[in-house]
Amino acid sequence: MSLTPFLDKLPIPRVLAPLRRDKCSTYYEVEMREFFHQFHSELPPTKVWGYEGQVPGPTIEVEEGETTLIQWKNNLPDKHFLPVDHTLHGCHESMPEVRTVVHLHDANVPPDSDGYREAWYTNGFKKCGPCFTRKVYEYPNHQPATTLWYHDHAIGITRLNVYAGLAGMYIIRDKNEKYLNLPSGIYEVPLVIQDKSFNPDGSLFYPTNVQNPPPEYPEVSITPGFAGDTIIVNGKAWPYLEVEQRKYRFRILNGSNERFYRIKLDSGQSFIQIGSDGGFLRKPVWLDEFVIGPAERMDMIVDFTNQPVGARIKMTNSARTPFDFGAPPDPNTDGLIMEFRVIARTSEDTSVIPERLNCIKDYDVCFAEKVRDITLDVGADQYGRLLFKLNDCEFMDYITEDPIVGDLEMWRIINPGLGVHPLHIHQVQFRVLDRIPFDTAAYAQTGQLRFTGEPEPPNENETGWKDTVQAYPGHVTRLLMRFGPYLGRYVYHCHILEHEDHDMMRPLEVKPPEHCHQTDQPF
Ligand code: C2O
Ligand code: CU
Ligand code: CU
Repeated sequence: MSLTPFLDKLPIPRVLAPLRRDKCSTYYEVEMREFFHQFHSELPPTKVWGYEGQVPGPTIEVEEGETTLIQWKNNLPDKHFLPVDHTLHGCHESMPEVRTVVHLHDANVPPDSDGYREAWYTNGFKKCGPCFTRKVYEYPNHQPATTLWYHDHAIGITRLNVYAGLAGMYIIRDKNEKYLNLPSGIYEVPLVIQDKSFNPDGSLFYPTNVQNPPPEYPEVSITPGFAGDTIIVNGKAWPYLEVEQRKYRFRILNGSNERFYRIKLDSGQSFIQIGSDGGFLRKPVWLDEFVIGPAERMDMIVDFTNQPVGARIKMTNSARTPFDFGAPPDPNTDGLIMEFRVIARTSEDTSVIPERLNCIKDYDVCFAEKVRDITLDVGADQYGRLLFKLNDCEFMDYITEDPIVGDLEMWRIINPGLGVHPLHIHQVQFRVLDRIPFDTAAYAQTGQLRFTGEPEPPNENETGWKDTVQAYPGHVTRLLMRFGPYLGRYVYHCHILEHEDHDMMRPLEVKPPEHCHQTDQPF
């Protein structure tokens, strides 16, 4: 099916209005329901699941320190319209087929509002998962200004629920951000980049039967990763945006299942990155192109001041899928993302690109109280299908990651495989220390790490707060983090949604302190 690119205008998700707001908190209700959405004017309407009847969901905007209470209401049908794989953890036929729970990625929240994957519930809370405790989630938002996103997190069907449309942006603002005088209002544009495939009748396509299906489950099977052939931004396929001759701020989120993007502008202009997952960088970073993995957010300024009126500038993608060893994108389809059309300025551009953005103290690696090795493993499940694991464990195996609240930990993410995995840790914002290349053949034989080169410092745009890191193959990616202030059960996982569903996710238990510690996390 071929769709004309740059035919439809980029939609901007509306900002959700709260039901009430008082001195103590702001209360929202967000309903998940089934509806039809037109992804492109040459496509018939497509059945989707979304928050508040929108794909992506409405943007939620809060101030730092404002408590938000959100009731995420499931009003979805009892049958999934995408192929549930009943062989996966938590998906047995005895379970309700449609389960949801919302995770605000990566809010620093108490565990009972974090969207634990077994805290799911069905339509009207009729049935609830074993870890369900509350109907209304509470978010303290005591984090510096940044771009978060909310998305479904139910065990075994996260990849289907998010692909069906259950994702949206969540923006925290603070005083520092206002003081920076960045492009704002209509010049601050969220870009939620996703990929989908469509059947000829316009319905969403998600593969079945990709790996040898077990005979008792002939229809549905997990896949090692799914990338759609159509690139969607804010719910439209290959849209265009009219931009004035001035600076814009783009909050870019990769909300795709497995696809990474290597993004460039065909005008040769730079992106000026000002923020990463957990807030502003120390200073802006000029980039000709950048790679964004699933779940990562990058806050970018693009300056169109010197572009001629009438210019059409394409945002392109050159990342291979699976990343970075699979097929290169087709320059006419998944190699295209969107187009900017330059028009005259309607008013003066008084926004600036500040020289300094944020003050970030480095963790001192000498004070790391604990070093954990996390190996990204690929094995086979009982049916011979690829199974992704962390430290050779599955989700249901007993807890091995149990940091003490307030302790500085170093995690060494060991990737002996082929591809890049976007590793995400709940509750914390961490720092990327470095990546060290190692001999993967020797590691496979002996289990010993033999380094083959010097530690490589993180990319300049990775030197701020991160919650999802690209764990390069053949490298040990070293992270520093301090858990807290909350105790209890969270998770960490690969954010390729097919990997996290099968079974690259592990619990994480933050334990009480033995003695007092300082805290130098951003919150
Ligand atoms: Cu964005 Cu546990 O996920
Ligand atoms: Cu998260
Ligand atoms: Cu993975």
